[in-house]
Amino acid sequence: MAEKWNSPDKFNREASQWDENPQRRAVALEVAKAIIAATTPKLTMHALEFGCGTGLVTMEIAPLVKTLSAVDTSREMLSVLQEKIKPSGSTTIETTCTDLLSTSESDFHENSFDLIYSSMTLHHIDDTAGVLIRISKLLSPGGMLALADLDLEDGLFHDDPLEKVHHGFDRAELADLLKAAGLQPLAFETIYTFNKTNRSGANAAYPVFLVTARKPIVSITL
Ligand SMILES: C[S@@+](CC[C@H](N)C(=O)[O-])C[C@H]1O[C@@H](n2cnc3c(N)ncnc32)[C@H](O)[C@@H]1O
Repeated sequence: MAEKWNSPDKFNREASQWDENPQRRAVALEVAKAIIAATTPKLTMHALEFGCGTGLVTMEIAPLVKTLSAVDTSREMLSVLQEKIKPSGSTTIETTCTDLLSTSESDFHENSFDLIYSSMTLHHIDDTAGVLIRISKLLSPGGMLALADLDLEDGLFHDDPLEKVHHGFDRAELADLLKAAGLQPLAFETIYTFNKTNRSGANAAYPVFLVTARKPIVSITL
């Protein structure tokens, strides 16, 4: 049966084996390296990752920032992350199980994050424009956004044909959505390529971009 958009069920089921996939670990490491190079995290910064999953990226970024809010809709993905936080002794990361689109001012304050990032999550959220507007509000003036996700793909990347996902993103269209959310797109770069046998049995290459954007100090009127 087709799952609904933003349903945590699939990720709850997959959480305990998530980190066993070497391509997932590899892309997360490349995403973390690219985010660090593009945004220069500092120990004074408050950061947020939405769709943090088991924390493959967040465990790399956490030592470089003051606080890190790790947000995900899947309790099971977050519990795998919590099992990593305990032995690391980190007091930087705070996990929150919520849908970033439905968070309120009581969950997270507007203008309070210097850095917001995500990896392979944007294509799982139905309302791309809405989530970018939410992020724009949460960023402090001058704050940075870094999003890693798939370029437009042939619709065969995900193994389950019934999974509700965007089939990657057109870079120019995403840049327009960032601008409409009041953010200044800075750069797109290709940071990784998944080489995989897709669900039609063909060997295919699926590039992943990192886009960075800044919230202007003087906000753009929408
Ligand atoms: C493909 S996984 C990526 C996980 C992690 N970033 C990684 O690279 O391993 C997408 C994650 O986004 C979460 N997610 C989906 N929609 C979300 C939303 N609206 N708000 C927060 N998290 C969401 C899922 O539960 C899942 O853990």
